Amino acid sequence: MARHLITSAIPYINGIKHLGNLVGSQLPADLFARYQRGRGHEVMFLCATDEHGTPAELAAAKAGKPVAEYCAEMHETQAEIARGFRLSFDHFGRSSSPQNHRLTQHFAARLDQAGLIEERVETQIYSKADGRYLPDRYIEGTCPNCGFESARGDQCDNCTKQLDPIDLIEPRSVISGSTDLEPRETKHLYLKQSGMRGQLQDWIDSKGDWPVLTTSIAKKWLNDGDGLQDRGITRDLDWGIPVKKGEEDWPGMEGKVFYVWFDAPIEYIACAQEWVDAGKGDDWERWWRTDRGADDVRYTQFMGKDNVPFHTLSFPATILGSGEPWKLVDYIKSFNYLNYDGGQFSTSRGRGVFMDQALEVLPADYWRWWLLSHAPESSDAEFTWENFQQSVNKDLADVLGNFVSRVTKFCRSKFGEEVPAGGAHGERETALIADLERRLRAYEGHMDAIEVRKAAMELRGIWVAGNEYLQDAAPWATFKTEPETAAMQIRLALNLIRLYAVLSAPFIPDASAQLMQAMKTEDDAWPGDVAQALSALQAGHGFAVPEVSFRKITDEEREGWQVRFAGKRD
Ligand code: MF3
Ligand code: ZN
Repeated sequence: MARHLITSAIPYINGIKHLGNLVGSQLPADLFARYQRGRGHEVMFLCATDEHGTPAELAAAKAGKPVAEYCAEMHETQAEIARGFRLSFDHFGRSSSPQNHRLTQHFAARLDQAGLIEERVETQIYSKADGRYLPDRYIEGTCPNCGFESARGDQCDNCTKQLDPIDLIEPRSVISGSTDLEPRETKHLYLKQSGMRGQLQDWIDSKGDWPVLTTSIAKKWLNDGDGLQDRGITRDLDWGIPVKKGEEDWPGMEGKVFYVWFDAPIEYIACAQEWVDAGKGDDWERWWRTDRGADDVRYTQFMGKDNVPFHTLSFPATILGSGEPWKLVDYIKSFNYLNYDGGQFSTSRGRGVFMDQALEVLPADYWRWWLLSHAPESSDAEFTWENFQQSVNKDLADVLGNFVSRVTKFCRSKFGEEVPAGGAHGERETALIADLERRLRAYEGHMDAIEVRKAAMELRGIWVAGNEYLQDAAPWATFKTEPETAAMQIRLALNLIRLYAVLSAPFIPDASAQLMQAMKTEDDAWPGDVAQALSALQAGHGFAVPEVSFRKITDEEREGWQVRFAGKRD
């Protein structure tokens, strides 16, 4: 039995995520976690909400709530939606937890002891009307280069010139519109990660098996110069983790907090402590400390491509710099973007389907199947309602759903609601089993390698093989002349339903559970040998005809949804 630590990039607290966010991290992580559990391995699957930073503060202000209250509510909302999608986290934590406060302050102290922290005084823009320092992208003004009037403090979107807020002509606060801004000197902590280039390079070079997308982004940032610049890890904000050296005050840093990107990945570890403190387990260190057994753990992270630099450079710099035996990631699975119907999903413009809306429209399995079988792995992918309708109707309703319903209904009408006896397998069955054996090993290979699309296609192939067998064997015809043979064919087909339930569970857990229930069995053991797996349900074993597990999407429905999700979210 192996041990798998699995984390998904932790979603920002401000607002509900869209399907592109879901398929880029949480959903494939869940697929992998369910698969590894299905194979009998020990799994720790962690996720959390990423609660700090200016966007969280502004979202709370907009909602007219204190930020702590806003975050607590949004965490519950996101947790509820995650349950709706059947995301099987062992714990869904919060980066604002006391555990993360302590651990983040601990890491800062260790980095300081290692001589990796530098204090720098810099000039930043303070807005008197807002009573706060403004991050660069919350300042707008006229571009000194091209005259564009809405250039942001970090960059002009018109001429793409990189800017410093001080360069802007007539700068104003994006939050209040106030022009009463002044530069002020303020002190911040910098993590001297530039000195760790060699160490990080060696570590990344040792990961020859990482996906190209991950390594190419990591190497680009590593060699670009920009990627490994020393990084400011503190901010002048109210909401966040107070800057402390472990439990001690940090002179000169009073009233400041750690930068959200410093504390967020540390929550991966703190989340395991939250898991213990929530009474769900008693030892988190065996997952995270290599001096406490975590050497045996295989740690896999899931994320969208924009998150790769933070996970290949910044977070490892924090871990390595601490000089403590924390577990480093073994494999990083990253994803391209999912687009929506000819454009981008847009949270600000409410374009596309958001997680809560998706569940209002159809149950989780429909979305899980489409999203995973179209995961943006080798390139960006696109969601269209036509494609969604087609996949669901074909793969789920015609192939899988139809197989189950034909087999169970035919059996009920001819043999009753139990597995019929019949004789021994013939040539056709032997050939099917050999084919399934090959397909099953291929499916496992793709799942082990986290090749999500390929795994989905192989699973679909396994469903199709059953359908073709049924079509070919035609027990409804055989029954008239050779009822014994028809009984044997149906016995095999009923066993296939159980096998499908086991193999499909990582993709479509609800349908799988429904099929297991219909087959009146709890034997969900991963098949070692197909022939053996197909004799799990013996003659005389009872079953029930399941309710329709997948229905078809009609053209009217599709058209209605196309209109509903084109524009502004209500
Ligand atoms: N909240 C970030 C995002 O949604 C991801 C943070 S992952 C982290 O892009 F763990 F590194 F924080
Ligand atoms: Zn410009």
